[in-house]
Amino acid sequence: MASSPYYLTTPIYYVNDRPHIGHAYTTLACDVLARFHRLDDREVHFLTGTDEHGQKVEKSAILAGKDPQTFTDEVSQNFRNLAGDMNYSNDDFIRTTEERHNQAAQAIWRAIKDNGHIYLDSYAGWYSVRDEAFYAESELTKNEDGQKIAPTGAEVEWVEEPSYFFNLSKWEEPLLEFYEKNPDFIGPESRRNEVVSFVKGGLKDLSISRTSFKWGIPVPDDPDHIMYVWLDALTNYLTAVGYPDTKNPDYLKFWPADLHMVGKDIVRFHAVYWPAFLMAAGLPTPKRIYAHGWLLNKGEKMSKSLGNVLLPEDLVSKYGLDPVRYYLLREVPFGNDGYISHKTMVSRINSDLANDIGNLAQRSLSMIAKNCDGAVPTPGAFTESDEALLSSARNVIDTARNEFNRQAFHRGLEAIWAVVGDSNRYVDAQAPWELRKTDPDRMATVLYVLAETIRHLGILIQPIMPDAAAQLLNQLSVGVDARTFIHLGPGHALTAGAPLPKPAPVFPRYIDEEVPI
Ligand code: MSP
Repeated sequence: MASSPYYLTTPIYYVNDRPHIGHAYTTLACDVLARFHRLDDREVHFLTGTDEHGQKVEKSAILAGKDPQTFTDEVSQNFRNLAGDMNYSNDDFIRTTEERHNQAAQAIWRAIKDNGHIYLDSYAGWYSVRDEAFYAESELTKNEDGQKIAPTGAEVEWVEEPSYFFNLSKWEEPLLEFYEKNPDFIGPESRRNEVVSFVKGGLKDLSISRTSFKWGIPVPDDPDHIMYVWLDALTNYLTAVGYPDTKNPDYLKFWPADLHMVGKDIVRFHAVYWPAFLMAAGLPTPKRIYAHGWLLNKGEKMSKSLGNVLLPEDLVSKYGLDPVRYYLLREVPFGNDGYISHKTMVSRINSDLANDIGNLAQRSLSMIAKNCDGAVPTPGAFTESDEALLSSARNVIDTARNEFNRQAFHRGLEAIWAVVGDSNRYVDAQAPWELRKTDPDRMATVLYVLAETIRHLGILIQPIMPDAAAQLLNQLSVGVDARTFIHLGPGHALTAGAPLPKPAPVFPRYIDEEVPI
């Protein structure tokens, strides 16, 4: 299948802090999609990285007693290391302090300016350093201490300084037209509606430069100003494919991006400002922005300021990497906010993984090892129930593809687990342990059907649980070049008589030693 290239990105992470599971979640979702599309034979470019400029990072560096460059070098490395901890398969890791990015950010500024969409004025208004965002007086409320706060809860400060402006107000109509023509541009639907009504409510010109601090990319031809960190940061998606060289093979192949995955807190920057900047620069706009919800711990969005962060490395060492990857994308319907907890984690590990797929594989493969000379059994003619199970295993890829393409990971997994459920019911109904004495040929057919179904499941779960899937497929002696989705289709099956290694359990139970309170 000759398929089109696929470019997907995570947000680049602020380096004011070490990564927590909320950060890991966004990149995990992208990793699963990247792996999924590669298995579908697409050339994937999967980008993540760090957002290193601006007042927020500068303040954190000062607080840490370090110069911003040393500070960002250190913190950025923690995000880079996350790829190892979480088994991400990103193709690039960008830092906004790299020279390639400096070039790209200045080039997009020039393009927007040359097209007449930037003017010099002065800004007087509210700014939140935590959000790196400007707010209108009407959006603010007060906290318990009487301090003005943004709708996100972040404190704001009054800023008055010379500033360049982007004529965002002129882009109201073009944006609304663009959303209308591209109904899939923003997902899920609820976010799309929010964005459309925000734009319909009227857009104000946007301040896009600052003069009161220095940690950023200088404005071309006016280095007293540095670029607003969001214009700088958003441009990373272009930098990574070679912009400003629009003849670069990566730019030609991958731009416009297929998907910018973001959390719902930053949808406005991606779905309003970013397409407006690109249109103003005369560049193509991305195909889709998907805004997922928040992972909540103890009832609130996980964040350092609330003191409720869970660290990816702690969860992985406690529960294992693949179980954590599965849990995060299965437990919380993607797009919604959702709670994560020890209790639901243990329940998913022990029921979906150990009991359902683990037990299915373990009992089937052990019976094959004991009763079929440790080789793929030789099947006889298939019955209707054999055909029914095999066809549900073959066909589930269509559902998974549809669901993953609209970022409904939980639904895709539900469909795959429906096949696991069918398989377990099939084992119970066929009772191969009884056939061993009464009808060994039929037992061989049943075990073959099970092995084939497990091969399909192993291929399908690779994007979510790459290591566990590899172990399953190794136990069925499936060659590493026979694991892409094309091998779920006609003409691909296990070869009867092929020797199999000794089976070993792949999905261990979690023994909960914590004493319940
Ligand atoms: N630097 C900006 C993004 C610039 S993209 C051009 C930024 N960085 S961030 O580090 O604050 O957040 C990065 C991503 O992590 C966002 O998509 C955000 O929604 C996500 N999450 C941070 N905490 C989260 C949870 N508790 N739950 C889920 N996602 C969360 O914003």
